[in-house]
Amino acid sequence: MTSSILAANNAPLLDVRDLHVDFVNGRTVTNAVRGVSFQLGREKLAIVGESGSGKSTVGRALMRLHPAKARITAERMHFDDIDLRNVSEAQMRTVRGKRISMIMQDPKYSLNPVVCVGDQIAEAWLTHHPGRKAEAKAKVLEMLDVVRIRQPERVYSLYPHEISGGQGQRIMIAMMLITDPELVIADEPTSALDVSVRLQVLGLLDDLVASRGLGLIFISHD
Ligand SMILES: Nc1ncnc2c1ncn2[C@@H]1O[C@H](COP(=O)(O)OP(=O)(O)O)[C@@H](O)[C@H]1O
Ligand SMILES: [Mg+2]
Repeated sequence: MTSSILAANNAPLLDVRDLHVDFVNGRTVTNAVRGVSFQLGREKLAIVGESGSGKSTVGRALMRLHPAKARITAERMHFDDIDLRNVSEAQMRTVRGKRISMIMQDPKYSLNPVVCVGDQIAEAWLTHHPGRKAEAKAKVLEMLDVVRIRQPERVYSLYPHEISGGQGQRIMIAMMLITDPELVIADEPTSALDVSVRLQVLGLLDDLVASRGLGLIFISHD
């Protein structure tokens, strides 16, 4: 992927300059990302490119979720005042899921099939607010309402196989937003959905970015 991305107009939350990601496999090196630069404030940024062009690799590099064989270099790679190039895993655990969240493509593979969806959203919050179980459920119900799930009390106790794809993606969005992140990376969040549901979820994300003052990186192949 080469850089083709727009710039911020307020204090940058993310500042990435000349990001390269190579996958090293024995003597074979794949240059998955070649010199991507962008700045992002509390605004939307789209990364668009064909399949295999390195979009997810950029997202994972920002979350420090890349495989060990990935080699990452950048002239600058800052989230707020954190240098993502040499952040410790301990510090990254306070950032990942809390200050930066990533919404993946298909909720089917991201939700645990044997835990009701409400408890899974609660878990995301409890990870960063340990021991506050009593508050967690109220937070989840509030969040289900934010992502426009009707009958939140009922949906809370449903299992992943009992909900539709659109509901599943709303659940994922609720899970990603419940920690009040500053930046959300949405990696093709609607490509597993029907067209009509896709538009609803896109509208929802758009509203949430505006109303909560989030930065959003939206990844899409179309
Ligand atoms: N874990 C990995 N090991 C080796 N190569 C990878 C790995 N992940 C991605 N790649 C390669 O990096 C390139 C970009 O992949 P990816 O970021 O998933 O593209 P996109 O999200 O744009 O479809 C592809 O050529 C892919 O094969
Ligand atoms: Mg991808």
